[in-house]
Amino acid sequence: MNKTGDKIKKLRRIIEEHNYQYYILDAPVISDNEYDTLFRELETLELKSPNLITAESPTQRVGAKPLEYFDTIKHRTPMLSLANAMSSENLIAFDIRIKKALKTKNNIDYIAEPKLDGIGVELIYEKGTFSKGCTRGDGIIGENITNNLKTISSLPLRLRGSSFPNLLEVRGEVFISKEDFLELNKSQDQNGLPQFANPRNAAAGSLRQLDPAVTANRPLSIFCYEAGAIEGKGFKNHMEFLSTIKKLGLPVNPFIEQTTGAKGLIEYQNKMELKRVSLPYEIDGTVYKINEYKTRENLGRRSRSPRWAIAGKFKAQQAVTTVENINIQVGRTGALTPVAKLEPVPIGGVTVTNASLHNQDEINRKDIRIGDTVIIERAGDVIPKIIRVKLENRPQGSRKFIIDLHCPECHQKTNKNQNEVVSYCLNYNCPAQIKGRIEHFVSKSALGIEGLGKKIIGTLVNKKIIKKIDDIFSIQVDVLSGLDGFGNKLASNIVKSIENSKKTTFTKFIYALGIRNVGEHTAQILENIFDGDIIKFQNSKIEELELIDEIGPIVSKSIKQFWDDENNKTIVNNCLNKGLYFENRLKTFNPKVTGKIFVFTGSLKEMSRQEAGSIIKNFGGFVSSSISKKTNFLIAGNRSGNKISKAKDLNIPILTESDFLEKIKIFN
Ligand code: IVH
Repeated sequence: MNKTGDKIKKLRRIIEEHNYQYYILDAPVISDNEYDTLFRELETLELKSPNLITAESPTQRVGAKPLEYFDTIKHRTPMLSLANAMSSENLIAFDIRIKKALKTKNNIDYIAEPKLDGIGVELIYEKGTFSKGCTRGDGIIGENITNNLKTISSLPLRLRGSSFPNLLEVRGEVFISKEDFLELNKSQDQNGLPQFANPRNAAAGSLRQLDPAVTANRPLSIFCYEAGAIEGKGFKNHMEFLSTIKKLGLPVNPFIEQTTGAKGLIEYQNKMELKRVSLPYEIDGTVYKINEYKTRENLGRRSRSPRWAIAGKFKAQQAVTTVENINIQVGRTGALTPVAKLEPVPIGGVTVTNASLHNQDEINRKDIRIGDTVIIERAGDVIPKIIRVKLENRPQGSRKFIIDLHCPECHQKTNKNQNEVVSYCLNYNCPAQIKGRIEHFVSKSALGIEGLGKKIIGTLVNKKIIKKIDDIFSIQVDVLSGLDGFGNKLASNIVKSIENSKKTTFTKFIYALGIRNVGEHTAQILENIFDGDIIKFQNSKIEELELIDEIGPIVSKSIKQFWDDENNKTIVNNCLNKGLYFENRLKTFNPKVTGKIFVFTGSLKEMSRQEAGSIIKNFGGFVSSSISKKTNFLIAGNRSGNKISKAKDLNIPILTESDFLEKIKIFN
């Protein structure tokens, strides 16, 4: 090893040691600045000698290429789940069951742990190096998320010291702290991206990114709590395992304790229930595990959960507050949803301000009125529900709440079908519906246009810059940059992401259209059935749709209603004509364009020749620069040149710009 090699090795060791001090011991000995300097020094050295870079270098946490899909990994030993204890009685019964099965009267030693509300994962260390990691999956087979796990700063890429098992599989929970979650949602909002419902969803979404660069920007943490397969070293009990992995540099929750007998279980349960709110991360209960591995073996397992462990569930967290108002929200489908505006109240570390009341039936059932004092509950999600009204606190003179028969946004009459509980605003041009449709169209699972957030869409719709979804593709940089709070840079970034979104898939586009009852899964089925051909889909008969597995009469009827509306055909047509296309699919078939050769002369008014050319290519047509016998059409714009006479000589049809526009209409 040369001098640089030695230096690199030494730096890596120093950085790893500081990671350990910071993440595992929670006692950093240098400042962030000093740490960054060491890190940059290592990066510079490795840049000069790329042959010395190893997978376990701290610089290699990010930078892996995006995947197309996740491989699978079969767990060497299955990742089981846990049975639940909902009460103290259940915990006592668990302890009695165990003593009975072991035929003992002695108190049992348990390890009591917080049950983290995150995503269970498995980390595999081979000869001390983090080699692979996966999700729990179905317990037998998980997804290989190695590169995403590597981005978690507190996860060691190399175990400390030299006394580690040859193979060490460790199970743990990836999570996002309460504070990081709030920060993440704030930045999602600033970037026009949707909010995550709770820290667990945010952690799950972050781990399942195909591009590790996205995961690297998410504030993920991990605690390890269980052994998988281990080769080359034996452990007598769980406490010994936990303290060993902690010494090896793996993060272990500091609130894990040893406890004894049913009394010990209940004490820990009560203690953690009180502690829950003040913890910096969400826990949804506790886990009690028998400490001695031999005893565990004697007890064995049921099909999905071990007999030697149980989860102690917490009661849902409740709070009392008042209903300040009831607002009616109008969604993209026109559905009216009553939402209670609550006096802000903290539950489990999150301030709650709203609760959905779903519909008039629900309001009637619970008789919720403005001014009422209510008990609310938060089950894990940030969005809480009202459990009941405290009638004894009801102010005098309060009146039953009845949803107005007019849309609060456009003031037109609403409609409720006899056997439905939800009322709808039927005005397609209601601004709330337009905003909702556009928000859905640009959302992540649909076209995924970054930067076009709720606020911007609101402004664009209010200013009538966009009325229909395809208007998005006509937004110009100067229009955006003229709006309040928009710089040129932001405006051009948004236009760029709009442009990028034109390359999409049939599934995403169909989902984006927001056809009632057609979610992502149904859109995928439709892509397979119609082979990604939107014309075939549009021409499908209702009887034909009903025959498709998983598509029943309700979905078929929604699809038919959608295509029966001429507006929708025009919108789809416009999207395709503005350059939207499906990747990895056959080109959209258009009998008047597919396979035909076009030549341009002169300039067009409605679009550039380049745009017209991409539309032709999108339909599987060809564009050529010169006229020949093979040319099918000459498109003649303003100030046409001598190609006209050549076309006439060869009897080639000459199209005006409006003839051409007529041809590229795929729905007539
Ligand atoms: S032990 C057989 N310990 O809870 C042992 N699990 O319902 C099973 N979890 O999939 C795992 N904190 O994702 C264990 N301290 C903890 C845990 C924990 C959270 C999750 C884990 C598991 C699920 C089981």
